[in-house]
Amino acid sequence: METQIFQPNQVEAAAALLKAGQLVAFPTETVYGLGADATNETAVKKVYAAKGRPSDNPLIVTVTGQAMVEEYAQPLSATAQKLMQAFWPGSLTLILNLQPGALSKAVTGGLRTAAFRNPKNKTTLNLIQAAGVPIVGPSANTSGKPSPTLAQHVYHDLNGKIAGIVDDGPAAVGVESTILDLTADVPTILRPGAVTEEQLAAVIGTVRSNHHKVGATEVPKAPGMKYKHYAPDAQVYIVDQVADWPAALQWAAQQTTPVGVMAVDSVLADQTLPANAEVFSLGTDIASASHLLFDGLRHFDLESPVKNILTQGFPPVGLGAAYMNRLNKSAGQMHFSK
Ligand code: TXA
Ligand code: MG
Repeated sequence: METQIFQPNQVEAAAALLKAGQLVAFPTETVYGLGADATNETAVKKVYAAKGRPSDNPLIVTVTGQAMVEEYAQPLSATAQKLMQAFWPGSLTLILNLQPGALSKAVTGGLRTAAFRNPKNKTTLNLIQAAGVPIVGPSANTSGKPSPTLAQHVYHDLNGKIAGIVDDGPAAVGVESTILDLTADVPTILRPGAVTEEQLAAVIGTVRSNHHKVGATEVPKAPGMKYKHYAPDAQVYIVDQVADWPAALQWAAQQTTPVGVMAVDSVLADQTLPANAEVFSLGTDIASASHLLFDGLRHFDLESPVKNILTQGFPPVGLGAAYMNRLNKSAGQMHFSK
């Protein structure tokens, strides 16, 4: 199967493939997603095969808004409605209790809950509208690899395995949505994202966050969090402090192969880079760094192969919490220290 590329004005054709039970990748403001008709179990099962994703890892259900959620979820709490009003469409995924049997086990992994997301991207909202059904939307990468922020990343991982890709340019945010569990006693962040803990607390009061606590023996609440993630072929080392860069680059200079260096321009400008450094700029700040993180990791896999990558760390607050969550996973917690 040759994967077809669709432009934003061709969503009708892409929707026809979805309605026929085929897989179509779609743009969102966070990362590209892999779509299938969420009400068609056979179609949904193809998503696991295409991604190489373990079948106990449930999928996000992508919707056009609150009304579509209400067809599947239990009556919405006041908290859920407030959050939808404040942050939808946007980068917040809500875990809600389902009406019995509302979605197949292939979507939920057998849980009585599902993750609902209403993305901002207009093209994708048109696509779901045209398909007339919610579509599942895991990130459109091979399982374990960095999430795709460009249609080209999707094409690289899934060409020949899916029917189509709707290309709407680079994903603006670059890290996946915040996942908030509303079925817990206290709303709990399972995965940090562009919508921050502080923003959520300002709308609904107390918010808990459990995403730093997942140990090997615990059952993680977001099943996907127990798997190896975002890992390029190279080993990634996090350089936490600006003051650590000179030692990190001295270490790089001693390596016999090229070393990837990912940092913002102000950091790069202040350092003496060794001859074997291959630079990928993270732009100017935490927003551009989040936007470019996965792109950079893929760059060193595909265009400029290296064995080691040094990547700038940021304080884990605000968007930095999402960035560091992804970077820690791609680095397997390896930090550069003198
Ligand atoms: O920004 C995003 O959320 C992107 C775009 C494409 O929408 N999607 C995305 O999907 O990141 P995925 O499948 O890569 O990550 C979804 C996470 C997984 O870790 C999964 O285990 C968790 O959500 N999840 C799904 N359903 C759940 C549920 N009912 N309860 C707890 N966690 C759930
Ligand atoms: Mg993913």
